[in-house]
Amino acid sequence: MDVRVFATPDETARALAERIARLIAAKPDAALGLPTGKSPVATYAELRRMYEAGLVDFSRVRTFNLDEFAGIGPSHPGSFRRFMDEHLFRHVNLPATHIQFLNGATPDLDAECARYEEAITAVGGIDLQFLGIGANGHIGFNEPADELVARTHRVALHDVTRRENAALFGGEAGGVPREALSMGMGTILKAAAIVMIATGERKASCVRGMVRGPLTTRLPASFLQTHRHAEVFLDRDAALLLS
Ligand code: GLP
Repeated sequence: MDVRVFATPDETARALAERIARLIAAKPDAALGLPTGKSPVATYAELRRMYEAGLVDFSRVRTFNLDEFAGIGPSHPGSFRRFMDEHLFRHVNLPATHIQFLNGATPDLDAECARYEEAITAVGGIDLQFLGIGANGHIGFNEPADELVARTHRVALHDVTRRENAALFGGEAGGVPREALSMGMGTILKAAAIVMIATGERKASCVRGMVRGPLTTRLPASFLQTHRHAEVFLDRDAALLLS
């Protein structure tokens, strides 16, 4: 794992946005895997700024978001699709037809998961998978468990994850859907390259486990240690327990 530590969250986000923009410059039709959550917000803001400055062109890029809540549609204010529209999609020249998203409102969720895997395969796989990390070490919605699921699948969300996502649903954990759809660990690890961002002291403990700990399904992000091209972008606080 290539771990890079920056002085502030803003510097971390800037370095990561530049990394993504370099990939797009080298491969204009790159397939990007994208996360939601608070962690990527500053990186998306920097990508918007770079787009406005003419430094990045999304016209041939394809995107696949990591996960989505089940039981709500794309226009629901708590949906990850809505989050992506607000933070990135509607600000840049990414064609709507190039955006792939899991549809949590479909009646056949298993078929939706299979469709998503096929869509990723159809573009030749993900070139760069951007990730955040949950405080319990989850990535996407691959929660700590006795076993992990390889491919895109349905997930029962942990209470801690529902609490972490409460802000999207009026601040009440009880309002967060109990189920979600997520790329699997195998889907994520198949990406040609992976970049993760984690900032703040709250993430220091799971970052330590991810980088230094044993591979364990109890900390799904630890499996990133097995990837050939995984880069971790940290601010000083998230890196506190690494030395
Ligand atoms: C959610 C998302 C994850 C994200 C995590 C951390 O559960 N499904 O992809 O990494 O939240 O969120 P935050 O960045 O807000 O700490």
